[in-house]
Amino acid sequence: MTALTYDVEGLVRAAAASHDVARKQGIDELYARARRWGADLAEGIGTVFPAALGDELIARLADLIVSTWAARPQQLQERDRERLLMPDWFQRPETLGYVCYTDRFAGNLDSVVKHVDYLSELGITYLHLMPLLRPRPAPNDGGYAVADYREVRADLGTMADLERLADVLHANGISLTVDLVLNHVAREHEWAAAARAGDPKYRDYFYVYPDRTIPDEFEKSLPEVFPDFAPGNFTWDEDLKAWVWTTFNDYQWDVNWSNPNVIYEFADIALYLANRGVDCLRLDAIAFIWKRMGTNSQNQPEVHALTRILRAVARIATPALVFKAEAIVAPEDVVKYLGVGEYAGNVSDLAYHNSLMVQIWSALATRDVRLLSRALSRFPAKPTTTAWATYLRCHDDIGWAIDDADAASVGWTGYDHRRFLSEWFAGRTPYSFARGEEFQVNEATGDSRISGSAASLVGIEQALDLANEQVLDEALARLRCAYAIVYGFGGIPLLYMGDELGLLNDHSYVNDPERAADNRWMHRPEMNWDLAAARHQPGTLQARVYDSIKRLGDVRRTLPCLHAAVESRAIETSSRSVLVLARAHASGDLVQVYNVSPEWQRIPRHVLGSLKDRDLREELSGAVYEFVDDELVLAPYAALWLTGR
Ligand code: GLC
Ligand code: GLC
Repeated sequence: MTALTYDVEGLVRAAAASHDVARKQGIDELYARARRWGADLAEGIGTVFPAALGDELIARLADLIVSTWAARPQQLQERDRERLLMPDWFQRPETLGYVCYTDRFAGNLDSVVKHVDYLSELGITYLHLMPLLRPRPAPNDGGYAVADYREVRADLGTMADLERLADVLHANGISLTVDLVLNHVAREHEWAAAARAGDPKYRDYFYVYPDRTIPDEFEKSLPEVFPDFAPGNFTWDEDLKAWVWTTFNDYQWDVNWSNPNVIYEFADIALYLANRGVDCLRLDAIAFIWKRMGTNSQNQPEVHALTRILRAVARIATPALVFKAEAIVAPEDVVKYLGVGEYAGNVSDLAYHNSLMVQIWSALATRDVRLLSRALSRFPAKPTTTAWATYLRCHDDIGWAIDDADAASVGWTGYDHRRFLSEWFAGRTPYSFARGEEFQVNEATGDSRISGSAASLVGIEQALDLANEQVLDEALARLRCAYAIVYGFGGIPLLYMGDELGLLNDHSYVNDPERAADNRWMHRPEMNWDLAAARHQPGTLQARVYDSIKRLGDVRRTLPCLHAAVESRAIETSSRSVLVLARAHASGDLVQVYNVSPEWQRIPRHVLGSLKDRDLREELSGAVYEFVDDELVLAPYAALWLTGR
């Protein structure tokens, strides 16, 4: 280990002298940050790279830190200070996320400005604008095949527009998240183009093999992400005259992170985006960035060391920037993205809680929360400085990440339960309320995933077709219950565009040949601003959905016990259909009770633990809570947030 021998502060001081900024105002803060995060940087580099490569890399990164800092706009330096004074800004209960495609939400970056009021009305303080950097021409996997990380997609605007938008968002108390696609670049990206032209430096940015020998060896243990439209993990390229690693689509080339030039390039890109005003980078498909023969090449330990390097660089140069890991992986793997062991608290600040999302859907279909409770209770503790990003829907499909052992613990077979969920949400099971579609049916393994919007999956679409008020009431209650769990769990809830209005599946994508094969587009509708206007007309479907979701945010903001530093603990009850989540916080405890079934349920008062003998308030209704014969009596799909205040 060369790690501790690096003097990061010294390197930063030397770089400052050579850039002639050693006298610039505020430089002492930069040095202080280099002292604070230097060891993370050094240890990350020492873990991944041999000294021969590490020495040069760390010097280059020190130089990058200084040039980024020197160019950082004044108001962003101010933001750095604010965030260092309030490092838990993203953990606080007032933090609330919204996720959308720029074009589908507003048209372009400039027009997003016109809808900031809409976001503020919902209480949004964090906006994730999905891929907006210049992708290759379609098909481009919804923008996740980036051709230039320093340019905005032309129809959305320019980098200057993005900077302007960031300013407006900041002035309105909203942080900006954008995607940083780490695992791959478009075949048309300049690195890939140079590699195709034969430049050996850039061929080394990718995994390139002259024949099938090594790819075949890797394939023995690699799963397929898109078995349906992109089978296999390698693609023959005529220009390269070689096979290139392509985990996702054939036009998305995996980059080789064991090459120090690659991490330098991505550090440079991350800091470039930070200096445009981006507050959070969503680290797309991060699980895949390190390959190891004989494994599935996901979640390799080096991934965390690489993240530690990137984060340390960002903390020193642009500390307002945080990272959100998009690792859609098993529970024991996903917490590592927030940091366990030596990585505790020094990798990503946020990570998607995929398991919670999957388990909510499973609980709604089965009216049974046992699997959800078990899965949650097996989660190792996360660092107290980090937060989950909780969600019900996003732009991707739902993959049934149900653990076989968890399923067995409630007497089910993992495989059968996953099959059941696909059938149920595709609407093929009798009595199913859902209107989704299967995605990526893998004939070999029998696996499949599900596409569909929240409203269509919870039964709103079916209720409207049946024109049945009672069925509609039930579907609306189901949606509210699901979102109450997402808002109440702790962490940043991410509201997926359209869910606040109950937008249904949109089948128009089938008319676009570039999209027709990918049914994830059915849950990526355009915003319907006419329907949005109906949110203020009492009694409309939109008003009913909108009011219930807005209320969750309004109440959430007032509850200090929803701070992400504390964890929700699942408590098993006498009813299979009732989920109880308890949160212990110095400001007062919170116990949440959810009935995931369309039947009335009763549970004994003692499940409330610390609150069982208190006078209770149900925060979502704002009313005093009364027991019935010492029991909690729960209406279908009831969601109660109980406090002793
Ligand atoms: C991420 C995105 C997904 C995309 C994949 C490949 O998982 O969410 O939409 O297909 O990365 O970039
Ligand atoms: C898989 C990947 C995830 C990606 C998704 C795209 O689930 O693990 O990263 O978002 O596929 O649909």
